[in-house]
Amino acid sequence: MNFLEKNTLQIPIRLRRNRRLPSIRNLIKETHLTPQDLILPFFVIEGEKTSQAVKNFPGIYRLSKDLLLKKAEEIHSQGVQAIALFPVIEPSLKTESAHEALNPKGIIPETVRYLKKHLPSVCIITDIALDPFTSHGHDGIVKEEEVLNDETIKILAKMSLVHAEAGADFIAPSDMMDGRIGYIRKALDISGFTNTGILSYSAKYASSLYNPFRFALNSNLQFGNKKTYQMDPANQKEALLEAELDEKEGADILMVKPASLYLDVISKLREKTNKPIAAYHVSGEYAMVEAAHQLGYLDKTKVFYETLLSIKRAGADMIFSYATETVLQALKSSH
Ligand code: PBG
Repeated sequence: MNFLEKNTLQIPIRLRRNRRLPSIRNLIKETHLTPQDLILPFFVIEGEKTSQAVKNFPGIYRLSKDLLLKKAEEIHSQGVQAIALFPVIEPSLKTESAHEALNPKGIIPETVRYLKKHLPSVCIITDIALDPFTSHGHDGIVKEEEVLNDETIKILAKMSLVHAEAGADFIAPSDMMDGRIGYIRKALDISGFTNTGILSYSAKYASSLYNPFRFALNSNLQFGNKKTYQMDPANQKEALLEAELDEKEGADILMVKPASLYLDVISKLREKTNKPIAAYHVSGEYAMVEAAHQLGYLDKTKVFYETLLSIKRAGADMIFSYATETVLQALKSSH
């Protein structure tokens, strides 16, 4: 008999057998996204019971520390282990030298103390960079339009001590100056903060996806761009060099940022390091999907879940994401 006339083809391997039922699909699932993987970034403002919507950043609010605490409790009760804090600084406090960054009574140290008092079981990660505090919006000290490396690092180390003193569990340098991880580690250690961790923004790209974040902080650049310190999106090997250096200098966790356009970088780094890897699903990655959802083009809950799952599949152990609450909902309803 001609085999073309048979009803069933003789194919010994049929991969669809493993996709036939939800139960089987769950058994063979290679990547599991859980609430423990997610980190929610917060924008903190002065005051009480204050919540401000952010222009061009749908669904995101600047929160005073009491409201922030409420939200942190809510997501922590659903399994989220860590939050990241970013300060919204009054324009009148922004200066060329970012002096407010070193104020021990500044908004971040005060918020860390408050959160550690009321919700000690949440891991707190604070941002170490000068851009929220500088009048020009750059991440460092500027002289004749050049962002100075070594001068900036000295301030970052002092800033790290202020945050460590307040009780931050991890400080997260996001500035991309050379040598800052080693310098900060030393400063922390000689000051007795051997338990304060460093989550380094190791491969942070000069991306066009940070605009909504800059709206949230009112930290738009007054001149130039960040290409002399943040990485060229064209480069992958350089990211591995950055991460290798940070690891040698004492970073506890290495970050790739942004995330979904840089899955190759996460994946390559996964092969190279035994350190935990964080990925930052940044403001622009979030806003694109929110906008498409509002237009009715996409279902944001599904797209965010798929995006964060892909970031984890690429090799990230944890993901900073503004979509954390949406994804928590998705995780509850899947099964
Ligand atoms: C600044 C910083 C930025 C982000 C985190 N830390 C912006 C920038 O580098 O200009 C962006 C995060 C986001 O877009 O969500 N040190």
